[in-house]
Amino acid sequence: MRRESKYFQKLGQELIKAAKQQDQYDLDTINLIAPASPTPMKYFYNLPLKHNAIAEGLLENRPYAGVEGFNRIERIAAEAACKLFGAEHANVQPHSVSQANQAVYQALLNYGDKVLAMRFDAGGHLTHGMSRNFSGIFYNFNFYGVDENGWLDYEEIERKALEFKPKLIVCGASSYPRIIEFDKLAKISRRVGACLMADLSHPAGLIVAKRFPQPFPHCDVVTLTLDKTMLGPHGGIVLCKSDLSQKIDKAIHPGVQSSVPLRRIYQMAQCLIDCSLPWFNDYINQVIRNIKIFEQKFNQYPGLVVTGGSDTHLMVLNTFKVFGLTGMEAEKLLESLGILTNRQVIPGEILKPYVASGIRLGTSWITARGYSEEETGFIADIILQNLADPTNTSLQMESKDNLKKLLKIKRKNDVWCE
Ligand SMILES: Cc1ncc(COP(=O)(O)O)c(C=O)c1O
Repeated sequence: MRRESKYFQKLGQELIKAAKQQDQYDLDTINLIAPASPTPMKYFYNLPLKHNAIAEGLLENRPYAGVEGFNRIERIAAEAACKLFGAEHANVQPHSVSQANQAVYQALLNYGDKVLAMRFDAGGHLTHGMSRNFSGIFYNFNFYGVDENGWLDYEEIERKALEFKPKLIVCGASSYPRIIEFDKLAKISRRVGACLMADLSHPAGLIVAKRFPQPFPHCDVVTLTLDKTMLGPHGGIVLCKSDLSQKIDKAIHPGVQSSVPLRRIYQMAQCLIDCSLPWFNDYINQVIRNIKIFEQKFNQYPGLVVTGGSDTHLMVLNTFKVFGLTGMEAEKLLESLGILTNRQVIPGEILKPYVASGIRLGTSWITARGYSEEETGFIADIILQNLADPTNTSLQMESKDNLKKLLKIKRKNDVWCE
């Protein structure tokens, strides 16, 4: 018994040490992982809500006593989400976007129904029909890709839709760097009698700042999260037209989940209200100015930037074609300097997905930490120099030092540390 308590004491110490190390690591690295963004500390500390209440059931319809406060908070979050995204109905309960997508499929489809979605190598997500994901296991997915330059080809999507006759068309992606023309996809969906769903986890913040097309009224259902370009907590949101609201709500509860922590709903409401303020538009505009700097710098190497650039917060580089480095090698080389990216399959991928031909980078995190064009250009130069000369150890040491100096500078508009 005594030995056990020592064991757990040691585990507790280890836990604190690991958390502190991770915190320090986050401060000591340049994070260019596209979905990464530092959630402002104000969403975690000094909450007026002290208790971690959990409640089961849908808004206004819970099989519990004492839930009026819970309803009020969730109502505010749902109302703010509708207002920001122009939706008629919002459900903020899903624990994640994977779960939100699961609920949408459950609401709109029967087992084995046909769905047309974006292929994984073109930028689609696991939950858009990957064979080993629940989506690919339970439903009959077929895919559209991108043209030889990496762009969505709406005529090709229409041809596929007419041939396959899906019940649902899914758009939205994890690594597609261009805008999505929802109006065109809505026309195709109507022509084949399908519903249109958009998974907008990535460009959510750009939609709020009106730097990306508005999904409504074109889409029937939208799923998204606040933890990528909205600088908020993790979790999923489903937005839809009012005629689908009951089906969607029931698919979330009791369909795929039971209870929800109120603190997360509170933090989501806080984030949604915050993102309606002018600072958020300024933030997104800077995210885009920073990606344009990447575009300019990386385009010094023809063929490096998939689609030749980006309209969003992210871009994909074909490192294998230009530098002979797999995505895995490029990711590890940059990680050794203190720059975080992720290996990324590219359209028409020829390598195994775990190795991949490219890397994906985004500007959400660095912008939130207060970096503007000058620092972004500096980082891009370091990336290019090292990818072009991957065995130059003195260059690596110099780059590491320069990045450390950059990280030491405190910025007044750093949302993370404010
Ligand atoms: C397009 C897209 N959909 C869904 C998800 C899954 O989100 P979650 O991790 O919240 O389940 C991601 C995550 O990166 C994503 O990029």
